[in-house]
Amino acid sequence: MARITFLKNRLQPEDATIDVAEGTTLLKAAQDNAIPLGHACGGVCACSTCHVYVRRGFDSLGEMEEDESDILDKAFGVLAVSRLGCQTKVARTDLVVEITPESSQAYENEHPELKPK
Ligand code: FES
Repeated sequence: MARITFLKNRLQPEDATIDVAEGTTLLKAAQDNAIPLGHACGGVCACSTCHVYVRRGFDSLGEMEEDESDILDKAFGVLAVSRLGCQTKVARTDLVVEITPESSQAYENEHPELKPK
């Protein structure tokens, strides 16, 4: 098990901390816990809308595959701690994850009812 904290953002007013099994992707963890992480392609590594910054625990993650790297190249605001949520599997180390503005926007586009008033 590992603990993931998804930092608050404009669609999620508080930090959300969840426990997940090793091997779970960040996207699956988010989806199972109603955390607003965008996923326009459905998690098949074709869109970059699940782009996150792994603010703590980044080094515990597996190496990025070429497909993930290629798609991440198309994302906005890529940093050294960037990963795609649909391709990133949790190890046993706790993580702190920031959902990028790009991802929040994608989620909001698919869920207009959540748009902040
Ligand atoms: S959901 Fe599209 S690349 Fe991750």
